[in-house]
Amino acid sequence: MNLRKLIKSVVFTICLVPAALLIWRAYNDDLGANPIEAVIRNLGDWGLRFLLLDLAITPARQLFGLSQLASYRRMIGLFSFAYISLHLSAYIGLDQFFAWDAIWRDIVKRPYITFGMAAWGALLPLAITSTNAMAKRLGAKRWRALHRLIYAAGIAGVVHYLLLVKADIRDPIVYIAILIVLLAIRVIFALRLRWRRLRPSRSLEPSQT
Ligand code: HEM
Repeated sequence: MNLRKLIKSVVFTICLVPAALLIWRAYNDDLGANPIEAVIRNLGDWGLRFLLLDLAITPARQLFGLSQLASYRRMIGLFSFAYISLHLSAYIGLDQFFAWDAIWRDIVKRPYITFGMAAWGALLPLAITSTNAMAKRLGAKRWRALHRLIYAAGIAGVVHYLLLVKADIRDPIVYIAILIVLLAIRVIFALRLRWRRLRPSRSLEPSQT
């Protein structure tokens, strides 16, 4: 096994640790007074952390030149989707006992569920089109445009968190601040790139007239 494959396997195993710890806590009856809420919250927390980690990869490459990180983006993104899908499944199965009417009422009437659902809905096409074959079928331009949905998912995800906390909003504020910094770095690099592309043509302007 070459080094890259080995590191990928290590990263994969690390991504499984939160799920393993949750199973361990459930097995040992260590989920507190409200185990269902604990499961939903734990999976939501990890889904959001992996989502932000995924969004941090491009800025880390841009700022520190860590181009090797790109190869972990898909894996981390898919782990985020997996944790959030388990979070959604726990809500549907454990919290609502598959009462589809009540779930639909929640989606329509509770803004935090509306935002959560919107965030998951934005991630779904990204997960479906995450394979090389799908990227090839869509073409690079369309694939890249579609994958910008990750920003919408991140924003809807943190709004979902902010809306659901009742008193202490410090935790969601920390996630919101991280998301703003990550998006701001991308915007700054995108503007810089555009400016650099424009500059040579501007310098030609005087001689052209
Ligand atoms: C990108 C999508 C989502 C993200 C990032 C996310 C993240 C989170 C986070 C961080 C929490 C709070 C955990 C804590 O208090 O420590 C949470 C709670 C929760 N989420 Fe989500 N979530 C998402 C989608 C959804 C969806 C689709 C649903 C259901 C339709 C949902 C239902 C809930 C519920 C019921 C809670 C617990 C609320 C409570 O305990 O009062 N989430 N979510």
